[in-house]
Amino acid sequence: KTPIRVALLGCGTVGGAVAQKLTGNAAELAARVGRPIELVGIAVRRAGRDRSELGLDPALFTTDAEGLVTRADIVVEVIGGIDPARGLILRAMEHGASVVTANKALLAEDGPTLYAAADAAGVDLYYEAAVAGAIPILRPIHESLAGDDVRRVIGIVNGTTNFVLDAMDTTGAGFGETVERAQALGYAEADPTADVEGFDAAAKAAILASLAFHTRVSSADVYREGITDVTASDIRAAREMGCVVKLLAICERTSDDGGTEGISVRVHPAMIPRTHPLAAVREAYNAVFVGADAAGELMFYGQGAGGDPTASAVLGDVVAVARHHVSGGRGPGEIAYADLPVLPMGSA
Ligand code: HSE
Repeated sequence: KTPIRVALLGCGTVGGAVAQKLTGNAAELAARVGRPIELVGIAVRRAGRDRSELGLDPALFTTDAEGLVTRADIVVEVIGGIDPARGLILRAMEHGASVVTANKALLAEDGPTLYAAADAAGVDLYYEAAVAGAIPILRPIHESLAGDDVRRVIGIVNGTTNFVLDAMDTTGAGFGETVERAQALGYAEADPTADVEGFDAAAKAAILASLAFHTRVSSADVYREGITDVTASDIRAAREMGCVVKLLAICERTSDDGGTEGISVRVHPAMIPRTHPLAAVREAYNAVFVGADAAGELMFYGQGAGGDPTASAVLGDVVAVARHHVSGGRGPGEIAYADLPVLPMGSA
């Protein structure tokens, strides 16, 4: 049987784990899909780097990403950031490849362009790994709950800030020294801005809200407040009230004073009672709480970052898309059917 050709863009923590699992579990994946899945190349920025610890065929690596995307059925993008990821994804789609990406920043900034290109080319666009790593949350919202009315999605979707707030709660230490400890332990980046200022969570909130409410929300629509101003005494005061402080991404259906129906999408630190299920989310774990009309309340919990957990979500998408190649079908395309305004904070 003709193999389904997969090209990988990026070979960092996530890309390396994806490549190893694609090649190491090739037989099982082929059985699940009904056709072999072949990793045809891995685009990297620097050719000379020693990647021997990955145990991959050195001939797979190339610096010619533009060329690589034209000879694949599925392109997996794990470079991150806006450019060159966007151009490569669009090029891949123009050449008839489906795309699996973990790129929350790009989806939250320019999702409509990617969806339009996928629809025009008749290919799939899957991105389960973009929000909450290993936790299956986007397809459950987009597909499993598509017959219900989602009213509310509340998530702890950034592991770094949850680790920092949890450590501040446990140790009584201040923000600055806790971030340094998180950096030393590998839970925070050398430049922690995207996490601690809430940009990462805001991108994820935009994606969650778009899928939950079948509308368009971009990062710029999201009210955002990070955790840099949370002090040891804030955490102590919360504790005295039986609460914990969590950075929450909140997406909900609401209406303003004039009765205009819309949505509120925001990221900010919030006090929640220690008895609430989200209070039990410790260290760098993620969780997403969903409230829907018919389903009622749902909770999703798991690892939101890291090579293997994120690779799990990426590979699930690869299998789903590969199955479409075999069946001739296609996953959901364009997501926006509703025109719900994002209401400004404080309007309700
Ligand atoms: N920096 C992110 C986090 C990684 O801390 O959750 C996963 O998107």
